[in-house]
Amino acid sequence: LNNGLALTPPMGWMSWERFRCIIDCQRFPDECISDRLFRTAADLLVSEGYAEAGYEYVIIDDCWLSKERDRNRRLQPDPERFPHGMKQLASYIHGKGLKFGMYENCGPTTCEGYPGSINHLQLDAQTFADWDVDYVKFDGCYVDIKILDKGYPAFGYYLNKTGRPMVYSCSWPYYYVEKGKKPNMKKVSKHCNLWRNYYDIQDSWAVVQAIIKWFGENHYEIDQYAGPGHWNDPDMLIIGNYGLSLDQSKTQMAIWAILAAPLIMSNDLRTIRPEFKDILLNREIIAINQDVLGIQGRRVKKEKDISVWIRPVTPVGYTHSYAVALASNRVHGDPYIYSVKLNEIGLINPAGYKFKDLYGDKECILYPHQNLTVRINPSGKHFCKVTLVRVDFKLKSS
Ligand code: DGJ
Repeated sequence: LNNGLALTPPMGWMSWERFRCIIDCQRFPDECISDRLFRTAADLLVSEGYAEAGYEYVIIDDCWLSKERDRNRRLQPDPERFPHGMKQLASYIHGKGLKFGMYENCGPTTCEGYPGSINHLQLDAQTFADWDVDYVKFDGCYVDIKILDKGYPAFGYYLNKTGRPMVYSCSWPYYYVEKGKKPNMKKVSKHCNLWRNYYDIQDSWAVVQAIIKWFGENHYEIDQYAGPGHWNDPDMLIIGNYGLSLDQSKTQMAIWAILAAPLIMSNDLRTIRPEFKDILLNREIIAINQDVLGIQGRRVKKEKDISVWIRPVTPVGYTHSYAVALASNRVHGDPYIYSVKLNEIGLINPAGYKFKDLYGDKECILYPHQNLTVRINPSGKHFCKVTLVRVDFKLKSS
């Protein structure tokens, strides 16, 4: 969507994957979807250094609404969980130098059964603008895709008409894929700043693997639609939660960087362990994700359960520089040696490339006819090791 927003993939924090629809604040005061949860997230984004690293949007997902609209048919938040209203929460978040995101659904109700937007598109867009919202995630539960085809552009039109700049995140293509149909990606990228392509992420390595596999196999359908202002979205980062090991977390971060994916964490910033936090704050990997060229990377090779991913990035010379990720789904116990020749994966600069391991500190120079060799350590059933390297072109010395 050409609205001047999301020129690099949006970064931030969102409630859904980790906090779902916990609404019992008596029993779970620290976890329920409430004013307090989002103020705390905003506080920690700033105090723990995430904001400085680029994480900027604090996004409320489903379950924030009151079960009824107000007497003017306007949306209203649950009065007990959001006693100060949304404008005040927005102002708190803005006061921290952050931006404020909200969730609605293009159907009669949200996926969790709260009032939906389909019959109030203009009014709801205006309500979000009145609340100083900066980002809207618009879901597509419980309606025919024919309605989505009208509803998504219409809601985008009304958001734009408010005059307030709001990033527009759509789930539109996912609801096609779910029904075994092909979305019109050209249309989606015209109307949305980012869009969910595939099933929801869950706190599980198997689900992360399935998402990575889908993006590896379907890149030719989607990667041309990624670029400044419009991004494919493989869903939230779940690093720091219950399901992923350290290596699996490194893999998620690396592949999301290669894919130019939005980096929207959904985790508990109060309890995240330092080694997981380090992954989320890895500046060099974030820089690859946020590379200004905005070219989405792709899987270029897959053999013996090792996949090789490449993304062209700046600086550009005789060839691009690249980010290269090698990810393993192997379950064998012995350290696995994997080699790939540079010119086989498109790295053809005769002057060679400087490789830098972004999860370590090794550097080396390699030439197109040489092999990049990595050793992948053994581990248990869900082992995955990824090597993400930054590859800067080397200018031929005169
Ligand atoms: C489905 C979406 O894909 C999820 O990310 C989340 O927003 C839920 N709906 C909320 O009900």
